[in-house]
Amino acid sequence: MLIEKGTIVTESTSFQGDILISGGKIKEIGEKIEKTSSTTKVIDAGGCFVFPGAVDVHVHMELPVGPGLCSSDDFESGSRAALAGGTTTIIDFVTPLRGQPLPEALAQRKEQARKSLCDYGLHMSITSWNKHTASEMKNCVEKEGITSFKVYMAYKDTIGLEDRELIPVMDTAAKLGALVAVHCENGDVIKYLQEKFLSQGKTSPRFHPLSRPAAVEREAVLRALTLSAAAGCALYIVHVSTEGALAEIAAARLAGQKVLAETCPHYLLLEKKEYLRPDSAAAAYVMSPPLRPKGHGAALWQALRDDVLQVAATDHCPFNRKQASHPDFSKIPNGVAGVENRLALLYTYGVLQDKISLNRFVEITASAPAKIFGLYPRKGALQPGSDADILIWDPAYEGVISAETHLHNCDTNIFEGFPIKGKPRLIIRRGKIAYEKDSVMLKKGAGLYIPRGAPGLYP
Ligand code: URP
Ligand code: ZN
Repeated sequence: MLIEKGTIVTESTSFQGDILISGGKIKEIGEKIEKTSSTTKVIDAGGCFVFPGAVDVHVHMELPVGPGLCSSDDFESGSRAALAGGTTTIIDFVTPLRGQPLPEALAQRKEQARKSLCDYGLHMSITSWNKHTASEMKNCVEKEGITSFKVYMAYKDTIGLEDRELIPVMDTAAKLGALVAVHCENGDVIKYLQEKFLSQGKTSPRFHPLSRPAAVEREAVLRALTLSAAAGCALYIVHVSTEGALAEIAAARLAGQKVLAETCPHYLLLEKKEYLRPDSAAAAYVMSPPLRPKGHGAALWQALRDDVLQVAATDHCPFNRKQASHPDFSKIPNGVAGVENRLALLYTYGVLQDKISLNRFVEITASAPAKIFGLYPRKGALQPGSDADILIWDPAYEGVISAETHLHNCDTNIFEGFPIKGKPRLIIRRGKIAYEKDSVMLKKGAGLYIPRGAPGLYP
């Protein structure tokens, strides 16, 4: 297959050129590649950008959040939506029950993930610490290609860890050369504030952000940095939402600490005022950390430009209106959809509004996440030898985001009505047409589990 006449864009370069694909891999890239007798298909990418297939390293398909309650996209519907938005690889999470052996939880999760249309990897969440955890973590890294572990400083009643449990996780990860991804919010302060509001009859979703103020994130980021520095482990801070957290991360990076961080489109583009909607509508915006007051978004864009943040992922974790409907804000399942909309939002409101360059757009959505999570250069790269995961992006498209038309299995979209410019025109995944003429061509289960190598891109 030959893709010709497009503008090829990577994290470091842009040029008019051609890409030759063979055996599911990129064979050659150059300014002009001649068609040969073995070229079976020629794709004209004239007028389009040619990006590496995007990588979303933070998604939660069918995440169990309580008895009989899971996030509403399963691996099939969620990965179909991801593909339609230009993402060819996702990394989801194994979330063991406390005390459950990690291999057992991993086997269950792999069974669910087999439905994926995207290629996929898994982070292992550590939700408790026992005498088997260190050797099970070693097994994850050495046998399963799972080189990142997720810990939660919030949600202490279910999956969150105390500091005394975070330390051995970080110490073990350091010895294994693995990365620890951290959800940074002070769980004890949140619990105290939730109980205080509820006892005062303040039950509406507008109290969700007030129960998780900005300082709750900043304090947890500083504590995670402190603990990981002591353990000598590399850190990845997920879904950063505040200026204060950025200040801590910037200072740590300047001091040479191995810390990387992501934000999500909703923190860049939406604000706390969404919670002032009527309760039934405001519930759709309940995610953690919550949306922030005006000002934090601008700081996050600046941090993406300054490399304080390296990744824009989605934290995709949708819930339908009915699932999110609860009279007590602290019991509304946390999470929002976004996997289909990430690239269009960052392109429209980032690249086209001069907040980030086109190369930085490719970097934060594809190459940096692939490097950080040990997928590069197989994924996130346009290089000879890389998987032929190629996104042909039509910059002329104009549309509007809506729950009526998105592929997320969710009846709300927090970006409802947002005008967007640009969308995938054609996507190739491992050399096969994955998306064409507004349709996802891959079938359920077409994705491959991708074992990952050593994490990279530290300061
Ligand atoms: O609100 C969120 N972020 N839901 C998904 C689970 C998590 O905390 O990452
Ligand atoms: Zn998450």
